[in-house]
Amino acid sequence: MRIAQRARAGTSSLRVLHACAELYPWVKSGGLGDVAAALPPALAALDVDTRVILPGFPGFLDAFTEITDVVRLATPYAGERVRIARARLPDSGRYVYLVDHPPFYDRPGNPYAAPDGSDWPDNHRRFGLFSWAAAALARGADRDWRPAILHCHDWHGGLAPAYLAAAPPAESRVATILTIHNLAYRGIFPAAVFPELALPASFYAVAGVEFFGQVSFLKAGLFFAEQLTTVSPTYAREIQTPEFGWGLDGLLRTRASRLTGILNGVDPRIWDPRHDPNLPQPYDSETAPTGKRAAKAALCARLGLAEAQEAPLYGVVSRLTPQKGLDLLLAALPELVAGGGRLALLGSGDADLEQGFADAARANPNSIAVTLGYDDALSHLIIAGADMVLMPSRFEPCGLTQLYALRYGALPLVRRVGGLADTVVDASAVTLAEGTATGFAFDEASPAALLATATRAERLRREPRVWLYMMRRAMTRDFLWEASARRYRELYRHLLGGAPATAERVNAAAIAAGAG
Ligand code: ADP
Ligand code: GLC
Repeated sequence: MRIAQRARAGTSSLRVLHACAELYPWVKSGGLGDVAAALPPALAALDVDTRVILPGFPGFLDAFTEITDVVRLATPYAGERVRIARARLPDSGRYVYLVDHPPFYDRPGNPYAAPDGSDWPDNHRRFGLFSWAAAALARGADRDWRPAILHCHDWHGGLAPAYLAAAPPAESRVATILTIHNLAYRGIFPAAVFPELALPASFYAVAGVEFFGQVSFLKAGLFFAEQLTTVSPTYAREIQTPEFGWGLDGLLRTRASRLTGILNGVDPRIWDPRHDPNLPQPYDSETAPTGKRAAKAALCARLGLAEAQEAPLYGVVSRLTPQKGLDLLLAALPELVAGGGRLALLGSGDADLEQGFADAARANPNSIAVTLGYDDALSHLIIAGADMVLMPSRFEPCGLTQLYALRYGALPLVRRVGGLADTVVDASAVTLAEGTATGFAFDEASPAALLATATRAERLRREPRVWLYMMRRAMTRDFLWEASARRYRELYRHLLGGAPATAERVNAAAIAAGAG
């Protein structure tokens, strides 16, 4: 009944509201911001009327135009009225919504933590209010634009499906999807915060938001959202196992028929070596050898590395967290450098890793350059100038950096997990003979396995014809958003039609619709 009502409620165009905490280029801590920037326009190009709701961070309020009130609501959180505003993005003119509540969002630092790196103590309120506002909008708070689907991303919007589940049935006529970008971040808070969330008492249960005696925003979303997705098919399988499940694998197994993996894509407006203003000269797959030589020279000059075109230059652009497996690289670094390797690393995060890489750079200034911090322009130059990009991740839901590396002809050297396994084809005898190899992959999370793979890669780099062939193959593997957006659109259609959106169904429908 609810489903049939929804289908009839649809207008000519399908309306989808995304709830996301980041949006590139204004607020970004990792790949989530890139996805929020690229997926909605890709969906819009497929005639899915897509808007995004964001927390009212200053980075957004300062940049967006035509910010106008949609509604002011009394909330169970703020103790006062909160403003939901509509705004336009300055670059594309697309509409977005902001949950404008300065006491919660007008703070320095990244979206989740203070400048000293510690999580804000009231994050449950900050993202609880955000979820609550997303649910309010999904229930029709903007009388001019009511979505058929609320699509939440990560734990930040995880409570929204719970608020909708708690609303009277007549009002909750919206379908819900939660996309897991990273299961490691579960939005866990002490049980004592539960009364502040203004959910029915019965929701503090295993069949609800409770997670081993605490509250988990992500678990709430995984339990209450009708459909779940994650950002690669392999990660969709992995998270149903204890090794990758962060205690949520049991729940995910029970919801397996509602969980699909859809790969992220590359936004060619931002990542395309043919027109990237951060490179000394543009290049395509034909002109890659000269283009990449120029980029390598520029990168070495900028970072103060002794230039040697013949030396293998490894690039890393990454958050420095245990997820990324860069402790393996740190351990392997002396041998890598002794073998003639160079490293250009850009990243920030864990103090120990920052210190370790900074020390290594001080000891080897000609071979190792470490830039601690966030630098958009330098990230592009590293991806263009490096021969290989290293991602020895312990787990990797999708990974965008290796997709950028492929497109720029910097062959990824990765651990075979999650989206890395799905997007990088290891150079084996078979794939080299077939001409399908695009990079290098290893299984064991050890410095030795990383080194052995680097040695294997270096042997091939010394065969320029083979290397060039791989580079060209990598550069023309189009992991573009259009294909992913088609899969999301199929999923939306299945959801509104009431059918479970299994991976097989979504893929078959997307292929039939021309996703390839
Ligand atoms: P994750 O989301 O887990 O951090 P992804 O590979 O999906 O990993 O996305 C990372 C994104 O963040 C990429 O766009 C990458 O270029 C960017 N990035 C990561 N660290 C930095 C940094 N220090 N400076 C600039 N960009 C960075
Ligand atoms: C997360 C994951 C990363 C993924 C990104 C965007 O941050 O760690 O693998 O690419 O989200 O989905």
